[in-house]
Amino acid sequence: MRARIVLLPGDGVGPEVTRAAVEALRAVASIFHHEFALDEHPIGGAALNAGGPPLPPPTLEACLGADAVLLGAVGDPAFDREEPARRPERGLLDLRRALGVYANLRPARVWPGLEDAGPVKASALAGTDMLIVRELTGGLYYGEPRGYADEGASAFNTMRYSRGEIERVAEVAFAAARRRRRRVVSVDKANVLETSRLWRSVVTEVGARHPDVELQHLYVDACAMRIALAPASFDVVLTENLFGDILSDEAGAVCGSLGLLPSASIGDGTGLFEPVHGSAPDIAGADKANPIGALGSAAMLLGHGLKLEAEADALERAIEETLAAGSRTADLVERGAPALSCSAMTRAIVGRIRA
Ligand code: NAD
Ligand code: IPM
Ligand code: MN
Repeated sequence: MRARIVLLPGDGVGPEVTRAAVEALRAVASIFHHEFALDEHPIGGAALNAGGPPLPPPTLEACLGADAVLLGAVGDPAFDREEPARRPERGLLDLRRALGVYANLRPARVWPGLEDAGPVKASALAGTDMLIVRELTGGLYYGEPRGYADEGASAFNTMRYSRGEIERVAEVAFAAARRRRRRVVSVDKANVLETSRLWRSVVTEVGARHPDVELQHLYVDACAMRIALAPASFDVVLTENLFGDILSDEAGAVCGSLGLLPSASIGDGTGLFEPVHGSAPDIAGADKANPIGALGSAAMLLGHGLKLEAEADALERAIEETLAAGSRTADLVERGAPALSCSAMTRAIVGRIRA
C-alpha cells in the first residue's frame, strides 16, 4: 500500500514522541512492504514561532489531502498570555473542526506488568479495558457566543449541542461496543444541564436502535469516582467534549501514566491520530517522555486510518511484549529509579515489531 501521512510534531515533547512514532511506521512499512510518504508540517507554538498562525494554511491543506494525520502535542507556556487566536491549542482545535473529526476514541487499559504502576490497587485495576468515546467538535470548546464582557470583569462560554451532533458520536460508541463487550456508559450532568438532558434523551434513542448493547447513564461526578474505584467495570464510555477531556486524563493516570494513552479522532474524512497527553513542558527536550501514547496512536492510524489491521496488531504486540519484559520509562517507575529514555524505549519496542 502507498499512503500519505502528514506528521505534525508540534511543541514540547511532541517532536520527541512523533520521532518514536515515525521509527515505528518506518519499521512497519519495511516489514510489511508498504510505502508511507511522511510529510512534516508545523502546528501550534512551532508554527507561531515560525511567524505564522497556529494552523498555517499549508499545514491544513496537507492534512486535508492526506490519508492520515499524526500529531505529537501542542502547547507552549511562552504563549500563555496571548489572545485566543495566537495560542498553540487553537491550531489543534481548528484542525479538528476542519477535518470534521467529531469522535475521539481514547482506549485506556492496564498493560500486563503495569498493574502496580498507577495509584489504584492492582486488585481493582485487573481487567481494566475501557474505550472513552469523546465528542470532539462541539460543546463548550466551540459554542458561541463566547468572550469577555464588562471590560474583562466577566467572561462567558456557551455549551451547545444539537441532536445531530449527539446522535453521530453515539452511533460511533454503540458500533464500538458491538465489537467489544457490548456495554455503553453514557456520561452527562443531566441533573443540572439542558445540554445533558438532550444528550441523555438522544443517546437513549440511539441505544434503542442497538438492543444488543446494554446502556447505562451516569453523572460525570459519579463517573469520575467510579473510574478511580472500579475502572474494570467499564467497557465503552460515551461523553461530551469537556467531560471526555477530563475523564481521559484520569483514566490515563489510573492505568499507570497519561503518557500511555493513544487516541484516534475520526469523522467522515481524514483521521487525526494523537496521544492524549500534552506537550509536557516539565520534561520536554530531556528524552524522558513515554513514547507509548504516540506509538499506540500510530497503531490506531494503521488500524483505523489505513485499515491495516495486522500491522496495527504487530505494533501493539511489540508494545505489550516490551512492557511485559520489564522495560519502563521514568513515568512508570518510582521517582528516581532507573528508567529508559524515550529513544531507548522506542528502540526496544520497534525492535520487537514483526509480521
Ligand atoms: P501534559 O499532558 O502536557 O502534562 C501533564 C503531566 O503529565 C506532566 O507532569 C507531564 O510531564 C506528564 N506527561 C505528559 N505526557 C507524558 C509522557 N508522554 N511521558 C511522561 N510524562 C508525561 O498537560 P499540561 O502540563 O497540563 O499541559 C501542557 C501543555 O500541553 C499545555 O499547553 C496544554 O494546553 C497542552 N496540551 C496539549 C494536548 C495535545 O496536544 N493534545 C493535550 C493536553 C495538553
Ligand atoms: C487534549 C487536549 C486538548 C483538548 C487541548 C490541547 C486543546 O487537552 O487533546 O486532550 O482539550 O482537547
Ligand atoms: Mn486533554
